[in-house]
Amino acid sequence: MQYPRPRTILSALSLICTAAVPARGGSAKSYIDVDTGTSFFGHVEPSGYLFGMMTPQQPTTDFIAQLVVPLTNGAGWGGVSLGSSMNGPLLLVTWPDGDKVMTAARVASGYTPSAVIPYTTNPIALSPIAQGTFVNSTHVSSTFLCAGCINADSFDPAWADDEHRDVFFGYAYSQTAVDDPSDIDTRLSDHTAGGAAGSYGDFPVVLANARSNEYDQYAAMAGADGRSQAPTSSATSTAVGSATSTAPPRPAATSDGEIPPLELVVLVVLGAVYLLQPFIA
Ligand code: HEM
Repeated sequence: MQYPRPRTILSALSLICTAAVPARGGSAKSYIDVDTGTSFFGHVEPSGYLFGMMTPQQPTTDFIAQLVVPLTNGAGWGGVSLGSSMNGPLLLVTWPDGDKVMTAARVASGYTPSAVIPYTTNPIALSPIAQGTFVNSTHVSSTFLCAGCINADSFDPAWADDEHRDVFFGYAYSQTAVDDPSDIDTRLSDHTAGGAAGSYGDFPVVLANARSNEYDQYAAMAGADGRSQAPTSSATSTAVGSATSTAPPRPAATSDGEIPPLELVVLVVLGAVYLLQPFIA
């Protein structure tokens, strides 16, 4: 199955909704990332929220994650809990800062904004993969190597050997901006608060389905592409242990090839007139 990425999300959202979202909280499925042609395993919501992942055949500590989050007027954030609850497990979160993509790790000890703090329990590093990391007019997309993210606060690598084991992850997103988008440690908005236009829930994953022969090739893009982008904000960090990372790789959607709807209609009309010219004359 092939899911569209945000660059084509407007035209293809219906395909996601009808093809990928099963009843009752949903479950994860394989999809092809059209930017790279790489197969991911993930969960998608009708809103366009998506979490995908890819592991090596023998996972140890690292995996590749992909978060796609719907935005309202350029604002919002979204994330995944690598456990069924919000409280306790490693949380991965992304949001836009203008056309830059901010991706960070958090951990929660309660259901209030101040109880959701930067994750420092174990050393991890989030290295952006530029090809799948960008902001457009409707979504933010973050694809990154999550080094050290398979740990005591997420899941056991041995589970990836068991084809039948269902593990539950959680998703959450809000279309209310974080407090300070340029601050990697910023306070997040409550995804359950009135007006947040957010959602949350859990979904089962069969980790064995995330194993990929393409993992090494794809993971190698993380350092090269991510670090080759000139850091443009103070929020850029590769600090192991402070659980932060960001990438400024992709500009807005229109320069990424997305044709705004009005221009599309004009093009279609002009094309039709041109083709019908011999008959009209
Ligand atoms: C400002 C920060 C946050 C606040 C105030 C907040 C608040 C809440 C509240 C009140 C609930 C319970 C709703 C209910 O009773 O059904 C909840 C559930 C949930 N949240 Fe958050 N949340 C925050 C951040 C996050 C983040 C960063 C994630 C993941 C990346 C997340 C994932 C979840 C999930 C998966 C659930 C459902 C499972 C559970 O109840 O533990 N939340 N959140």
